[in-house]
Amino acid sequence: MKLEKMDDFFAARVDGYDEHMRTNIEGGSRFYAYTASLLPRAAGSRVLDLGCGTGLELEEYFRLCPDAAVTGIDLSDAMLQALKAKLGNRNIRLINASYFDEPLGEKTFDAAVSVESLHHFPAEQKERLYTKLHAALEENGCFVLTDYFAESEDLEKEYFRNLAHLKQEQSLPDDVFFHYDTPLTVEHEMDVLRKAGFRDVRIMQQWGESTYTVLAAV
Ligand SMILES: C[S@@+](CC[C@H](N)C(=O)[O-])C[C@H]1O[C@@H](n2cnc3c(N)ncnc32)[C@H](O)[C@@H]1O
Repeated sequence: MKLEKMDDFFAARVDGYDEHMRTNIEGGSRFYAYTASLLPRAAGSRVLDLGCGTGLELEEYFRLCPDAAVTGIDLSDAMLQALKAKLGNRNIRLINASYFDEPLGEKTFDAAVSVESLHHFPAEQKERLYTKLHAALEENGCFVLTDYFAESEDLEKEYFRNLAHLKQEQSLPDDVFFHYDTPLTVEHEMDVLRKAGFRDVRIMQQWGESTYTVLAAV
């Protein structure tokens, strides 16, 4: 398997992406609406989306909260262009960058969301991101995470071993993001969120075998 750079991977698949996510991904026909339903509804709510892609969860969210003020961060310009074509008339600021690098400020957002984006990264990197995210949320804020998780600790380790092996085999650098699924177990993910400062972290919903919606309260 030849690893592709993260942004190239999504640019090559942007056509038909929405249909694919809604029909072929475990829970994809239902979890976008559910995830959006956990976000604040007050007009003007400031919501951050980590890895917003083409905006599937945001389409659902704007249905519930048409006057929200959303910031979406994504590495892939092609995905953001597709989002703009659908949601360009909404109050939405798009940032074409890595959420690991982008400063998020302090108490800048009422809530944050991420769907199917964070299962590509190791726990240490996520802990730094979640610490930054925790500081960027208001005191009564929350983070809604819907993602794919490893079914066991052994599998979690295996995914990371496989990725390291592929990178070594293909002489790929460590400072570039490549698309390869390395999900943590949902228990490990929740521990990382707690370590980053989130006070109340709970599973809200399971979608099939390995997809969950987790709610983390500041
Ligand atoms: C499977 S898509 C999910 C998009 C959208 N949230 C959804 O569920 O349809 C994953 C998205 O995360 C983005 N992504 C991956 N790593 C990222 C990073 N480090 N910073 C910002 N975006 C990232 C990708 O470019 C891609 O658009």
